[in-house]
Formats: sequence, structure tokens, C-alpha cells
Amino acid sequence: MTRSVGQPLLRADGRAKVTGQARYSAEVPVASVVYAVMVTSDIAKGRVLEVDASAALKEPGVLDVLWHGNAMRLPGDLSPADRGDRVVQVLQDDRILYSNQPIALAVADTFERAVHAALLVGVRSSPERHTVEMEDELDRATPQDINRASGARPADQVLGDPTLGLRQADASVEATYELPPETHNPMEPHATIAVWSGPERVTLYDATQGIFGVRKKIAKFFAIPPQNVRVITKFVGGGFGCKGSTWSHVPLAALAAKQLNRPVKLVLTRPQMFGMVGGRPHVRQQLTVGAKRDGKLTVLRHQSFSTTSRFDTFLEPAASVSRDCYACANIESKHRVVRLDIGTPAPMRAPGESSGGFALESALDELAHKLSIDPLKLRLRNYAEVDPMEGKPFSSKSLRACYEAASRRFGWEKRSPKPRSITRGGLLVGMGMATASYPANFSLAQAAARLTADGTALVQSGAVDIGTGTYTVMAQVAADALRLPVSKVRFDLGDSEMPESPRSGGSQTAASVSSAVLLTCNALRDRLVKMAVADPASPLHGARPEDVAVEDGSLSAGGRADTYVEIIRRAGGQAIEERGEAKPDPERKRYSLHSFGAQFAEVLVDPDLGTTRVTRLVGAFAAGRILNARLARSQFISGMVWGIGMALHEHTVYDARLGRIVTRDLADYHVPVNADVPEIDPIFLDEVDSHVDPAGVKGIGEIGITGVAAAIANAVFNATGIRVRTLPITPDKLLQLPTAERQQRPSAHR
Ligand code: MOS
Repeated sequence: MTRSVGQPLLRADGRAKVTGQARYSAEVPVASVVYAVMVTSDIAKGRVLEVDASAALKEPGVLDVLWHGNAMRLPGDLSPADRGDRVVQVLQDDRILYSNQPIALAVADTFERAVHAALLVGVRSSPERHTVEMEDELDRATPQDINRASGARPADQVLGDPTLGLRQADASVEATYELPPETHNPMEPHATIAVWSGPERVTLYDATQGIFGVRKKIAKFFAIPPQNVRVITKFVGGGFGCKGSTWSHVPLAALAAKQLNRPVKLVLTRPQMFGMVGGRPHVRQQLTVGAKRDGKLTVLRHQSFSTTSRFDTFLEPAASVSRDCYACANIESKHRVVRLDIGTPAPMRAPGESSGGFALESALDELAHKLSIDPLKLRLRNYAEVDPMEGKPFSSKSLRACYEAASRRFGWEKRSPKPRSITRGGLLVGMGMATASYPANFSLAQAAARLTADGTALVQSGAVDIGTGTYTVMAQVAADALRLPVSKVRFDLGDSEMPESPRSGGSQTAASVSSAVLLTCNALRDRLVKMAVADPASPLHGARPEDVAVEDGSLSAGGRADTYVEIIRRAGGQAIEERGEAKPDPERKRYSLHSFGAQFAEVLVDPDLGTTRVTRLVGAFAAGRILNARLARSQFISGMVWGIGMALHEHTVYDARLGRIVTRDLADYHVPVNADVPEIDPIFLDEVDSHVDPAGVKGIGEIGITGVAAAIANAVFNATGIRVRTLPITPDKLLQLPTAERQQRPSAHR
């Protein structure tokens, strides 16, 4: 029987999704549900003085308008429920802390009537002075420790003597790189349906990346036991990090449902997705890189400033990538947060590695240019054989092979080191590269596996599939462990009644849940073998369990055979169930655990219009065991596509005077579309890693985006000679091309 893991199987839920049968949270039919629509603040700071609902309440079908003057007081503790949970605004007081904050909730018997009612709600507020720009608060930046799935790290870490390292350098680059705020924008907006079945028991259908985080928070807010809160999330239309936290609208839906004693559905509009449910913060990074003439790094200094709200702290760990990527004796990595009157940011698409990698990999490209060394050779000259900051060995690292595979596929040798030296049809051709990396995260996960009388298995874990293929890959892992064809295994997820799994964030679901599934299914198989050899009625009676081979649900030893179906039948026909878990081994701490990759980009820049097109992207990745080649390919491609977005399109624009985001839809907030995306054919190298987790999986959720923005910016420099250090790379930033005509104009260099 061929093994299922690694096979390019089709998505188990693919047909349900394309035929519209897959039910997303807002689509779950709930009897007598009513609709809540949020009214949000149009000032960035101040107090709500009065909410006038009189006009709204006169309209047909309008049930109520809730605001802090009439909303029920939540009986519980309103502080964040766990690491990564956020402070929320749930109509308990008059404070306005950011623009687009929920300040009232119109509830009606239809969605249209609720929308209409929300428009009629009058809000009187008293504004206070606000600041939404990093610049204004930069001098009050404070150090902030790193707190992520891979563990806590201090804000600042120094290795060696960076000042001395800079003196030893023959060439150095000192530059500041800037990422604008970005907004996740999954296709499916945040949505919650709350249904109370008694004063102390509630079910939530919620668009979330982590059902147990939702359960914990709702239990805490309403002061009820967690087991009284059931959270169900069968399908998620993209998360990208914003659905990793339980934001204000989730307790608000539960609050409205309790107060009105009706099931309540609350779906965010696209404009409401901007500001109140997180986003990537504005990140400014100061880099100093210096090297000897031969390219050997002598100093690597990376200081990151990222914005957060005044009432809660999210840190973008952008400078952490400089701690583990390159061999250098003198490294300094520092993190600062800058507090503004904005909604709290959140993890977004490889927080830290994607943002920090843009700065680090751009700076190295600048250094390579200064030293006249090939950018790839510069990386190889500083290849880290051990984690430079921690001094630990890598659990596995195949970055050299990634550089090799991707550069060959890309044709890196055709690149000219001299900017503006290759043209095609009047356009400038540029080639750039960068390193990709992401930590291999793994958290405690649990699973249950049940073999039924017909010889099929149901395996469950309370994980969430955010579109990556969890249903499919977990069935594959379970099938191999149970020695069943994958067609006889069903994997189910997304219900807090199931065994607990971590939130689908930090690229940890495949690693954590597949390890739990593997151990649980191994235990179930062992149990069935033991049942057979102990049963006098079994042909295998008396055989040693270790001599029993299992294939396709059949057990055999020494020419004798038995089957799962027979074993269960003889035992009375009841399903046999095992529960198990996988948790990080303390041995893990002895290693530095990361996936690595190499990104290569080719761009065409129009010298007259300043427009950039990515014509080719080649990425090679090594991320432990690949569970499903087809789904892995999709995930890498989509990560790389988001890298194009980061490089060329995405920008959450604030109006500083109003303190308000003005790009509040997908017409103004640009994301890559098909026309922006060339053929992408990622290479993934299978990697054996026995240290990361029992399944040997490092996770591929996020590494695909890392390095892409830098590879593109480096390609743009190679095409134009212009170094763009502030993303996105829009035409205005490239309209100072040194053509004879333009050189005579006054420069508007930033
Ligand atoms: Mo991811 S940005 O950790 O959901």
C-alpha cells in the first residue's frame, strides 16, 4: 500500500467549496436569528456623549440600538484571555480610542433593516487631540519584548561588539527601511453568530483562526465556565492573522444575543475590517551592515520601531530575523513600540520575518553592490552553520540547497550586476534575490481517533482550517498511521467539543495537529493489534504484537491474518477510540528551529511611467516534511503572491487630521490581482528533521511571503539604479530615472 503523506491529493473539501456547499460562519442557518450592524466612531479619540436612537427605533423591524448607555454590563473579567488576545471595546464605557471603534449596535429582524437603522443612529461625541503618525511619537518609543508562538525573547539582544564591528568593516551601509501599515483583508470578513441556550450557555459560529481562544474569552467576559461556551468554525475564508485574536465584535454579538434574548448575527462590512480587527503596524527599521572586502560581515545592526495602540501592545518582531539568519560576530537587534491613537495591530503574514526580511535583505543587497560582490555570494559567504545569536545548532537547515535550486531554475547567472544594463522592448529588466525564513512553531495539540465497525476511521481535533488544507493533510497522516487507504479516513475539525488544538497562527497547525494525529492514530493501531493477539478467537492469537504487520486494515503475522473489521465485530461492534496529544519536547530547546528558502525575482520597469511588473518569481523552500505536494504548492504560491502585494501594492493610508483610515475598501487598498502575478512554480525540497516535532513538519503557512518584497526591491534597483526603501514601490518613487531629460529637473528624492 502506498503511503498517503506527500501525495498530491485533491482537497477533501474542494468540491464543497466550489459548489457553495461549504458553510462559512455567517452562513450557518439559525432559527429566528436577528441581525446586528455596528455603528463605529468617526473620530480617533474622545468620548461618546450621547447616542440618539429615536429615529432608528421608529423604523419597522428594528429591535434595539445598544450603546454604553443601555448595553448590559458584562459580569466577567474584561482583560485579555491569553497571550495574543487583545483588549477590546464592547460598549462598557464612553471612551473612544481609535477611529472605526464600535460605539453602538443596531439590531433588526433583517440585515437590510439593521443596516438602515445603523445609518439613522446619531452619535454626539467630544473629540480630543489624536496622533496616528509614528513620526509624532517616535521620541516616546519604548523597548518591547518579543512575544510570539516560538516563545518570548528580550526586546534587545547584542552579540559581540557592534561598534568595533563597524570599525572593522571595509564597507558599510546605514539605511532606514519603511513598511506602511497594511491590512489583512481576507475575502471572508469577520463574522459571528451567537446563540444562547439558557442564561449560562452559548454557542458561537465564528470566523476565527482559533476556537479555543474565542471560548476562553467569552467564558471570561460572561463569567461562565469554558465548557458552557461552544465555538464552531468549519470553514474560514482566509485569516492571515487578523482572525487569530477575538476582537470586539465577538463579545458584542454574544452581548446583544443575551440582552435581546435572540440569536444574533454580526458581520463586519469591508470598511469595518480596517482598524478594529488589527493590521500590520507601520514598521520603521534602521539597519547598519558592514563587511570586509571579501564580503565577510563584521557588523549587523537592526533596530525596529513599530506602532501599536495606546491601550494594548502588539509588537512586530522585525529585528529578530537578524538574530538567526547570518553568521556575524557582532549583531545588535532591538525592538521599540510607538503608541498611537489607532486600533491595536496584529500578526499579519509572517510578522517579523516578512517585514524584517525586507529591511535586512535590502541592506545586504546594498552592501553587495557597494562591495561589487554578487548578492548570492554575499549570502553564501555569511552562511550561518549555527544560530549566530544563540549559538545553537539548527534542527535542520537546507538553505544552501534552496539557493542552489532556485538560482539555477531562475537563471541567476544571466543577471548583470550593473543597474540599467538590460532592456527588453524599451523596458528595464532587473533581477534580485533574498533569503526566506520563518520559525518552526509547535504547540500542544490533542486529537481523537475512532475506528468504527465498518472499518472506517473518524479522526478529530479542534483545529481550524484557514484554507490551507487541514482537512486533507490530517486525513493523510491518519491514514498512514492507521494503515488505511485515505478514502476510509475522515478528519473533522472546528468544534470546541473536540480535543483542543492551538490557534491556526504562526504556521503551527500542520506541525502541531499532525503530530497529535500521528501519535493518537499510532496508539489506536497498537491497541487493535494488542486486541487481536490477546483474543483467543483471532487467528493472530498469541503472536507478538511487534511481529504483526498492518496493511489496508488487515493484520498479518506468520501467514495468519485478521482484520480491523473482525476485531471490532468480535469485541461487540462498538467503535474503538483513542485520545492523545503531542507536545513540544524539552529537547527542542537545544535547537534553533526554522524553515529557510531562497527567493528570486525578475521585474520590468517602465522608465517613462515608473510602473513595475514582476515577470518571474522563483522560490525554493525547505520546511521539513511536506504532507501534500499539491496543497503545499498552492500555499507557497499564495505566500509569494502576497509578497508581490507587500512590494508593490498594499498600503493602509491614514488621514492624519481625521485620524482615520481612508483606504477602506479593495478599490483603494490594493492587493495583487491575476494581472500582477506571473507564472510561479515553487520548488520545495523534502527535508528530514527528527527534532522539530513527531511528524517532522516545520509548517509552510507563512514562509512563502518572506524575502519576496526584498527580492523585488532588489530587482527594481538592478533595473533602475533606484533604491526604494519605503514600500510599496509605487510609480512616483521611480519617476526620477536618470535619463538625460529628467536629470535636469529638480529632484524630489525622498
Ligand atoms: Mo499568522 S500572521 O500567525 O495568523
